Amino acid sequence: MHPMLNIAVKAALRAGNLIHRSTDKIDHLTITRKSHADFVSEVDFAAEQSIIQTLRAAYPEHAILAEESGANGTSDFVWIIDPLDGTTNFLHGIPQFSVSIALQHKGIITQAVVYDPTKNELFTATRGAGAFLNNKRLRVSKRLHMADALIGTGFPYSNFDHMEAYLGIFKELMQQTSGLRRPGSAALDLAWTAAGRYDGFFETGLKIWDIAAGSLLITEAGGMVSNLSGTDTFLNSGHICAGNPNIHPMLLQVIEPYLTDALKA
Ligand code: IPD
Ligand code: CA
Ligand code: CA
Repeated sequence: MHPMLNIAVKAALRAGNLIHRSTDKIDHLTITRKSHADFVSEVDFAAEQSIIQTLRAAYPEHAILAEESGANGTSDFVWIIDPLDGTTNFLHGIPQFSVSIALQHKGIITQAVVYDPTKNELFTATRGAGAFLNNKRLRVSKRLHMADALIGTGFPYSNFDHMEAYLGIFKELMQQTSGLRRPGSAALDLAWTAAGRYDGFFETGLKIWDIAAGSLLITEAGGMVSNLSGTDTFLNSGHICAGNPNIHPMLLQVIEPYLTDALKA
């Protein structure tokens, strides 16, 4: 395993265990509302601090971009961290959340870890060296037809700017595919797409820490990731479409008629 991935795994496992141990005290946690329907708990902060400590101890000169504490430092190497992806699930006792850590080198994501502490599933990837689930090589699914495809997504829940377009796409996919799922952790949704559990995934308005690690998992598993109009600007725009190489272009085709200028970013 690449030494930088090794440190990221160590950080993700530590944070994941911390989160897992907190699941039986969710009724006693301090919770703050960041914006409409956007919550953060003391566990998010503690997990983030634990990750930053582990990464800093190994690579003190690297920069950090973390959801709760923001950007710190300047370097060609930037660690992009979502300490707890799926906070709403976590706070409701729903066992679908993850830790997401990616390393970006000169703008390119080179290492990725998504860890699901409930199922003890560790998804990892190094650019050019493949994607793995608990050391087993991952491949995206082989499904060819939309009628057989299971598509993951995330509903708009705080920013409703793209509601009409989203609902239009949703309605199409509901009729054209074998099903849609909204489990509630985008990082894990992308990892599941890499693992071939979903054949495709789309969501609008995500943040870089939701998708940085998951996007590398997918490309290293032989899948495709883009923004909603097929370009590679998704890390910045947060509008993302992913899937196996058959389903990804078909998903883009379904989405195309609903694209506004803002959604083309
Ligand atoms: C959220 C989850 C969710 C997605 C949201 C994200 P958080 O992350 O990834 O699946 O639909 O857009 O904000 O807030 O739980 O880290
Ligand atoms: Ca997130
Ligand atoms: Ca989070």
